Amino acid sequence: MALKGCLTVASDKSITHRAIIFSSLAKGTTNIYHPLLGADCLSTLAIFENFGIHSQIKDDCLTITSPGLDAFEVQSSILDAKNSGTTARLLMGVFSYLNEPVTLIGDESLSKRPMGRVMTPLTQMGARIELQDGATLPAQISPSQLSGIDYELPVASAQVKSAMMLAGMLAKGRTTIYEPVPTRDHTEKMFEDFSIQYQKVNRVITIEGPQLPQTPKEVFVPGDISSAAFFIVAALIVPGSHVTIKNVGVNETRSGIIDVIRSMGGKITLLNERYFGGEPVADLDVAYTKDLVATTVEGEMIPRLIDEIPILALLATRASGTTIIKDAEELKVKETNRIDVTVEQLKAIGADIQATEDGMMITGHPEGVFYEANVSSHKDHRIAMMLCVASLLLEKPLLIEDIESMDVSYPDFLKHLQALLEN
Ligand code: S3P
Repeated sequence: MALKGCLTVASDKSITHRAIIFSSLAKGTTNIYHPLLGADCLSTLAIFENFGIHSQIKDDCLTITSPGLDAFEVQSSILDAKNSGTTARLLMGVFSYLNEPVTLIGDESLSKRPMGRVMTPLTQMGARIELQDGATLPAQISPSQLSGIDYELPVASAQVKSAMMLAGMLAKGRTTIYEPVPTRDHTEKMFEDFSIQYQKVNRVITIEGPQLPQTPKEVFVPGDISSAAFFIVAALIVPGSHVTIKNVGVNETRSGIIDVIRSMGGKITLLNERYFGGEPVADLDVAYTKDLVATTVEGEMIPRLIDEIPILALLATRASGTTIIKDAEELKVKETNRIDVTVEQLKAIGADIQATEDGMMITGHPEGVFYEANVSSHKDHRIAMMLCVASLLLEKPLLIEDIESMDVSYPDFLKHLQALLEN
């Protein structure tokens, strides 16, 4: 069954997290238009509600009224980031600023993910953070005064960069952050929106602290290209499909998937390119492409599409030749080990795919058939949605275990998919 018609995808998860964080830290009222109200962003919101901010959701607008960071009062000392790595990592330095000790916890998946990458530089800034076995949540965070440092990020991670930017904003003195490879720059854009002074020259960010954000009153959240990716790939691989996805964020640091699809010969066109809030957006016109070709994805491209790799792997199963994905070892520390889980699940339905040390190799069979198997998202939202798209290539229904994990980033995913299939 082909996908047809027009769709507005879920709003951007990374930008919504940051909009909630900055609106909560800034004294006054901020309206966040088109927020993503998925489980991860609601975890961020609940943490700030526990500090005394008020929120109201009406007509696709989240209004946050905050007494400002200096007036926060900690109601419960247990802060639960649930499944959200962005919540836990971005906020660790901010929690050091509170005047009471807190304990940061997460769900089973988050409790296995590395937190030392944030704890180490924050400790150098003067934070007092104790992790379980020095590496994972729970984190015991005691009040402390942060001071600026020079720090070279050891991994290409927007979460670590953003954690350091937020800590640098609150710290005394100058914080300098060196980024090895460019990563998503939504925190930089939020700094501008919330009047935080900073400098970014090539890959070096400098902040003089302490500074507190000032509300711009309004923030606009575009569609999430990481969510759009599932419909883009579905349209490219299901014969007869043609969809338009409206108002999708196409920030250069996030839009690697578009470049890779073009290099594979996929029919994708950006229409109506414009700015929405501070972010570039476009409407994406995507059509079924019969003669997709394999490609290699590596190096600086990886952070530009890190969350799209599971769905890109599915796309590669329909492209003639062998697609190689390398330099992507960061996938091993996402909500699941996304190298292993992507490979296992796609292999189970008949894909020609192998895991490698730092990525995967996929040999495409454009006319190949997938078959029924027991598959599972392993409670990873992006694997759940990838498997739903894969199911469109099967003749019989595919039973996907733990499909509800998609609520983390896209609660309406199935409804939106159904609507395009019915057109
Ligand atoms: C995110 C950064 C990326 C990404 C995650 C969201 C962010 O993680 O995978 O889904 O909002 O900054 P890393 O910074 O760990 O690469």
